[in-house]
Amino acid sequence: MSITLLFSVLLCAAPLRPALGAPAVDVSSRVESLLGKMTLEEKFGQLQQLDGDAGGDARPEHFELAKKGLLGSTLNVRGAKRVNELQRAAVEHSRLGIPILFAFDVIHGYRTVFPVPLAEAASWDASAVERAAAVAAAEAYAAGVRWTFAPMVDVARDPRWGRIVEGSGEDPFLGAVMARARVRGFQGPRLGDPGRVAACAKHWAAYGAAVAGRDYNTVDVSERTLREVYFPPFRASAEEGVASFMSAFNALNGIPASADRWILTDVLRGEWGFDGLVVSDYTSVQELIAHGFARDGAEAARLALSAGVDMEMVSRLYNEHGPGLMESGGLSQQALDEAVRRVLRLKFRLGLFERPYADEQAEAGVLLSTEHAAAARDMAVRSMVLLKNDGSLLPLGDDRRTIAVVGPLADDRAAPMGSWTGDGRVEDVVTILEGIRARAGARRVLHAQGCGVSDPAAGGIDEAVAAARQADVVIAVVGEDAAMSGEAASRSTLDLPGRQLDLLKALHATGKPLAVVLLNGRPLILNWLDENVPALLEAWFPGGQAGTAVADVLFGDANPGGRLPVTFPRALGQVPIYYAHKNTGRPPSENKYSSKYLDVPVTPLYPFGYGLSYTRFRLAELRLSARSIRPDGRLRVSVDVENTGPRPGDEVVQLYIRDATASAVRPVRELRGWERLSLAPGERRRVEFELTPEHLGALDGALRFGVEPGEFQVFVGSSSVGGLESSFEVVAY
Ligand code: NOJ
Repeated sequence: MSITLLFSVLLCAAPLRPALGAPAVDVSSRVESLLGKMTLEEKFGQLQQLDGDAGGDARPEHFELAKKGLLGSTLNVRGAKRVNELQRAAVEHSRLGIPILFAFDVIHGYRTVFPVPLAEAASWDASAVERAAAVAAAEAYAAGVRWTFAPMVDVARDPRWGRIVEGSGEDPFLGAVMARARVRGFQGPRLGDPGRVAACAKHWAAYGAAVAGRDYNTVDVSERTLREVYFPPFRASAEEGVASFMSAFNALNGIPASADRWILTDVLRGEWGFDGLVVSDYTSVQELIAHGFARDGAEAARLALSAGVDMEMVSRLYNEHGPGLMESGGLSQQALDEAVRRVLRLKFRLGLFERPYADEQAEAGVLLSTEHAAAARDMAVRSMVLLKNDGSLLPLGDDRRTIAVVGPLADDRAAPMGSWTGDGRVEDVVTILEGIRARAGARRVLHAQGCGVSDPAAGGIDEAVAAARQADVVIAVVGEDAAMSGEAASRSTLDLPGRQLDLLKALHATGKPLAVVLLNGRPLILNWLDENVPALLEAWFPGGQAGTAVADVLFGDANPGGRLPVTFPRALGQVPIYYAHKNTGRPPSENKYSSKYLDVPVTPLYPFGYGLSYTRFRLAELRLSARSIRPDGRLRVSVDVENTGPRPGDEVVQLYIRDATASAVRPVRELRGWERLSLAPGERRRVEFELTPEHLGALDGALRFGVEPGEFQVFVGSSSVGGLESSFEVVAY
């Protein structure tokens, strides 16, 4: 296609869903009337969020501030009784009785711990993800929490970054769908519905693109990449009516995100029309000084507030310097009032003025209920990805009478919960060993730890080998411990830590059939396992029901159907490696002077979208509803899916496109749809997708990248590699 033929259809942004819990007019008049009564001090007080004790207690100072109407919000204070005590100080003893907004990091469960978000994304099941967020919301609400700092919607393409575990992986399209599901799950149909909480899209923006995968590090990304890769899940959250955004720690293209007017105001409010609340990340206003962006506290407060950060988390620069800045003219009345309005608006929308208190009697009945545990187990099963299975071992047959369950994570209670545990307790966790024992019935189950996760010494490997020798099958549970992923948990290698590979090699040398279960929060380098072990199950950090869910899968009561939401490399040197890369002028080939490595193939070990099953699927008869469409047209893509194997199972049919020639280079493939479906043996079904102009142009409309005439390729398959192919033309009028 020649560029002169370029024809673009401006992408119309989907309208923002109003996040209303009460009629807009009513809320705005109540906000204005309250604002009119507030002193300068009370206004700044509403912009302050302070940290409670990690265990959930408020601090004595909170009560003092609350009585003076100087505490807008807390984080970590939780539990119906504790919340009510502090709330009473604000509602019954302060001059204006403005309730406190209680926040907490409810990331993947509150008391019932669900799989980590990366794992949930691996389910490719948006309804299950929505349900998990709804359960978390119900429990958090019961404990008095009204605002969660989730979902984390950062696209992450560098597995060294520990926080890759908190998001939905490498892809903006998958990330956007999961972001919407989580916002819906947390907030419900209307903000302020009982049993739901306000959500927070974080970390705005591009926190996941930290240089070298080192947490909090600088980010330098072109505006095109921001709009095409990093913004879409945030925009989707805003469209879904998310109540708040969190400004990130990192500097973005030279400007710290917590003082970046372009992202906080021009894009978020100007382009997207977001009218919710922006909270800073933990002390990120204060950190403007260390960034070398603000000279002192007063300047940091001025820069953050005028850029668009409404509420300051933990540092207190707004309160310390705000009144002085107002006096000197450093801050305008309008900027202050606007920030206060956003805080009050959220409190009204949440119904906090009507229902400031938690129901202390109801709390215990909601937390960790049987239904919640069942939902967590189901989510964990859905999120597991079978990376390898030669069929000789899994699912475990009845003939395996003695099972050795070994490895440092086999009986570990902390790792399954991952790094954000909400209010989860280790004693609630079913370990993998316990889950297998419970399911094993009359079989014998032996256990040995073998080694620690990161021990330098070989320790108990001999003991594990001895257990293996007595067994018919060995299940080794290895990976990362809980502290190895999440915030401030970047790693410089992606290898199995410590002596775990030595343990696996020693077990393998016994000649006993060996299945490996991985617990981890990021892609690891698994080359030796892929070459030597007959069965490999990626269980991630599966949450409190780890053991029951792993047993469901190992014994074949459930058939794994999860797919990787992130590429698994062969070598750390390939990072960042992701499926939606661009082709370059010299795509990898036999030719030396093509884009590749001397010492490792250019391909990943396991690609994005990959995952096996205990059954087999066949895709056939890919059909397009037309050979050509107009730029504003739609196209249906359909395919037959058949379960050709012996068991019921789930296939995730994935649709990718490639804009073959465009006025700006497009990725070799872009995910544009999928369906996870369950099929009985021999069952065949037709799956249909619709491609719309929004799918064919860039995902974020602001660069005005429309649908251009020319060829589009279509790929439908079981991962981002291979599959059936076809193509169509977009033709100008
Ligand atoms: C810092 C983290 O970056 C953020 O994700 C979290 O919500 C806050 N701490 C509050 O705990």
